[in-house]
Amino acid sequence: MRVFGSLRVPGDKSISHRALIFGALGTGESRVTRILQSADVHSTAGVLRSLGVSIPPLSEDFVVRGLGRSSLRQPTENLDCGNSGTTTRLMAGVVAASKLTATFVGDASLSKRPMRRVAKPLAAMGAQFDLPPHGGLPMTITGGSLHDIEWKSEVASAQIKSAILLAALVSGVSAQVGEPVRSRDHTERMMLARGVALKIDENTVTIESDSPFETSDTVVPGDPSSAAFFAGLAGLASSGELRLEGVCVNPTRTGFLERIKQMGASVAFENQRVEGGESVADVVIAPGKLKATKIVEADVPAMVDELPLLACLATRAEGETVISGANELRVKESDRIAAVVSNLRAIGATAEELPDGMRIVGSDKPLSGKIVTHADHRLAMAFGILGAADGNSIEIDDRDCVSVSYPGFWDDLAATHE
Ligand code: S3P
Repeated sequence: MRVFGSLRVPGDKSISHRALIFGALGTGESRVTRILQSADVHSTAGVLRSLGVSIPPLSEDFVVRGLGRSSLRQPTENLDCGNSGTTTRLMAGVVAASKLTATFVGDASLSKRPMRRVAKPLAAMGAQFDLPPHGGLPMTITGGSLHDIEWKSEVASAQIKSAILLAALVSGVSAQVGEPVRSRDHTERMMLARGVALKIDENTVTIESDSPFETSDTVVPGDPSSAAFFAGLAGLASSGELRLEGVCVNPTRTGFLERIKQMGASVAFENQRVEGGESVADVVIAPGKLKATKIVEADVPAMVDELPLLACLATRAEGETVISGANELRVKESDRIAAVVSNLRAIGATAEELPDGMRIVGSDKPLSGKIVTHADHRLAMAFGILGAADGNSIEIDDRDCVSVSYPGFWDDLAATHE
């Protein structure tokens, strides 16, 4: 398989959600350019509309007219978050600090995912929560005036951190959030760009009470988690080179690109620049002979969404790859440890589950069979990439689920290799 050409991957999903939320909470106009138009981001737009914010249809370039931090209205319907954990957890922070009662609902996958991780700190700040016994959705929140909080999160999670910071920003209280390893820091960067009084000290972020908050425009850079699939495609190719334009290369997101470089692929960041407070580059990738790798807990946050893809690449890397310290994979859109390992085995790869990760032995034998995605977009795309490697023949049971984060994925895949 040969890779070729250049590709601009869609806008970053994390930044897209946040651009809508910050736009809604601001007073006045914020322009959003190159937002990701995918199902998850539509969920955030829909939830904000249900809360009375006027969000126009998403397009390449549009304006959100925010009415301020305390302008959200009592919804008359449930807040439908679809498949999106980011929508649910970030908006839980906003709703917890607003004087209203709202019920969050979602699809079968999202309804199973753990919400106590945000309910606990937000309840400690003074909001009321009603969750079903399994701790997922539907979740009803009655928000109001909150108090200051110092919170140490047991897991490195940008969603938990952001929920607390947003709750503090909306209610005007102070919050300090610590996490074991630094998770993606887009909320912090976007808050700083909006004049929020925020201090960052290693893995601890503090927002001051009564912080200022200004509106700001957002130009959304390319999503490194979407770019990763094409970097993986180039890594698995036998020849060629692929150029990925305008990718966000924020160091809290580049774990996968750095790792495939260590494994033997050729990865270069060209034309590196800063756009809207984020580091952006054109990423040029070419194949190389891949070697196995070891992932430990401290590596996980910077590549958390890319680990299914890394596991797929490991089937073609010489030696045994071990991923550990990755418990969080069990509570993503699917149990990504169980699902990745069972699918790898189903197509003939040598793989084994670990309680907190997996072990994969690389080889060059052809892999073939059918993948069960469990409606998980990243599984569909990771195995789609593996299926393009020489000798492999992989059928995906649900190709359409890629619309959660990358609606044009299959077309872009077809256009970049032969
Ligand atoms: C996200 C944070 C990560 C990531 C998710 C998006 C965000 O989740 O997996 O796709 O935008 O904050 P966790 O914070 O739960 O690790």
